[in-house]
Amino acid sequence: MFVIGNWKMNGNRELAQALTEALREHADELNQVQVGVCPPAVLLASLNEAAAETELMIGGQDVNEHQSGAHTGEHSTELLSNFGAEFTLIGHSERRQFYGDSMARVAAKVAATLANSQLTVVLCVGESEAERQAEQTFAVITEQLETALQGQTGDCLERLIIAYEPVWAIGTGLTASPEQAQQVHEFIRSWLVQKFGAEAANVALLYGGSVKPENAEALFAQQDIDGGLIGGASLQVDAFIAIAKAAA
Ligand code: G3P
Repeated sequence: MFVIGNWKMNGNRELAQALTEALREHADELNQVQVGVCPPAVLLASLNEAAAETELMIGGQDVNEHQSGAHTGEHSTELLSNFGAEFTLIGHSERRQFYGDSMARVAAKVAATLANSQLTVVLCVGESEAERQAEQTFAVITEQLETALQGQTGDCLERLIIAYEPVWAIGTGLTASPEQAQQVHEFIRSWLVQKFGAEAANVALLYGGSVKPENAEALFAQQDIDGGLIGGASLQVDAFIAIAKAAA
């Protein structure tokens, strides 16, 4: 099971220190959970340093599809790796909605990360409220998966995680029900197996969207939910540890 915190544009050195101290304290209870955090890029070095002697995985919140060059404000796979990242989110809905991540650009980022680094790709997919109400959820997820993974072969599977984040549940407190989430996760799993074969059944599928200590256990108990991608609750160390324990 995976529990990954996405700090978004939040956090500081003190939070990095408090989290890693808590992870050391609860290491025995969490030894079956792969805990990760995606801090703002400027905190990668601090978190990497604070995470010494823990099993914390560090990741990027996004990545540029170029390896280097005149891309002001961006971060390459090499820079993320240099600062201790083992994975990166790609295609988060906030990147898609507000920062120009078209489906084609998401595909370019996935391809570049898999080809040019050892980073694991956490590919984010999810439908909007309007798309769900129009009963387009599976069509939207299919298009996002097909475009993002176009041209990929089974070789990508060992470095691929999918995060299903219904946009209407992100930051709203309107968590998908365990049944709603399971239905989409089952669909994603079947899509992966159809495209890549039986081994794709082992790709971890994370749920994100208002995961809290109160609802984590019921979500993680679902057959095709392999953990969570946590936003707001990851900024509260006690809440984040409680969610990680729910995955243990
Ligand atoms: O990437 C995780 C994030 O989008 C979920 O946010 O605050 O609903 O847990 P939140």
